[in-house]
Amino acid sequence: MKAIAIQQWGGPVEYLDLPDPKVSPDQVLIRVRSIGVNPADWKVVEGGGMDEWFEVHFPLILGYDVAGVVERVGPAVTQFAPGDEVIAGVREDHIGRGTYAELASVPVRMVARKPSNISWAQAGALPTAALTAYQGLHRVLGVGAGDVVVIHAAAGGVGSTAVQVALALGASRVIGTASEANHDYLHSLGAEPVTYGEGLVERIRELVPEGADAVLDLVGGETLDLSFQLIGDGGRVAAVVMEKYAGNGLPVFSTPDGGDLQIVADMVQAGQVQVNVSKTYALQDAARAHAESQAGHVRGKLVLEVA
Ligand SMILES: NC(=O)c1ccc[n+]([C@@H]2O[C@H](COP(=O)([O-])OP(=O)(O)OC[C@H]3O[C@@H](n4cnc5c(N)ncnc54)[C@H](OP(=O)(O)O)[C@@H]3O)[C@@H](O)[C@H]2O)c1
Repeated sequence: MKAIAIQQWGGPVEYLDLPDPKVSPDQVLIRVRSIGVNPADWKVVEGGGMDEWFEVHFPLILGYDVAGVVERVGPAVTQFAPGDEVIAGVREDHIGRGTYAELASVPVRMVARKPSNISWAQAGALPTAALTAYQGLHRVLGVGAGDVVVIHAAAGGVGSTAVQVALALGASRVIGTASEANHDYLHSLGAEPVTYGEGLVERIRELVPEGADAVLDLVGGETLDLSFQLIGDGGRVAAVVMEKYAGNGLPVFSTPDGGDLQIVADMVQAGQVQVNVSKTYALQDAARAHAESQAGHVRGKLVLEVA
């Protein structure tokens, strides 16, 4: 099969011919149609401590998100069958068998059904954004009915999903930070937009004098530090950007979970959550997609498509 992989830390990111993956008893073999691009994909290329966390396989196939059609299932799999249209957010206890490929073997516990009302590109965009948004808002922050929520970087992949998931969970108001260029976009998602940069705390406190119930921070550093000035009594702050995490706030490390993913997929199916893809690239152009993601201003998601 064709796949996008690196052969050593630092890259280059190459389009290679690699052996088809094996299908172990608890795995589902997916014929890949699309793959969401995440900042984690280009962060992995540089290595950044991965050796300490994972057993590493080179050539290391990149990628965490996948949408496609089940081609084959392992003998222990009963929930899915060949021909099913599925999505998955994939992270295993080793690294190197990612989703940037024509075929991906995925543990069945990470798989959910593709909503029928979205395209393949939108389906590939969903997993990591959905898991991070749902687990951050629901499992870590406990967002529920009537809560006022602030989301930093609300126009990006996780943020634009999180705005809508927060509202679906019952939040009464969502304040989202973005540059002016994304204010109309945030309005369209149901958020109240606020420009980031100097004066951010004052602008948000003007909108929510009593303070927010929850802050989901997708920026880190100074933005995370300032977030503690945005909450009211009993308010909570969650930190998503792990490489900038210094122990303040509640950490969010998204976990692959087909059940959680299905909950957000069902919100999509019900029309509560829209999936916004700003641009698609062919699989072999992954390095160009990484450059665009790395520039830091993607609206919604970038997606790789497999011909
Ligand atoms: N811990 C985990 O499990 C986990 C899971 C997923 C993601 N993450 C991390 O979370 C971060 C966000 O991921 P993502 O996929 O949503 O990224 P993304 O889609 O690349 O985010 C791009 C967005 O960030 C906004 N932005 C940039 N600087 C900002 C600032 N200072 N304040 C507010 N918004 C700002 C941009 O808006 P403008 O164009 O308007 O500036 C743009 O819309 C990444 O660092 C990623 O690695 C961690």
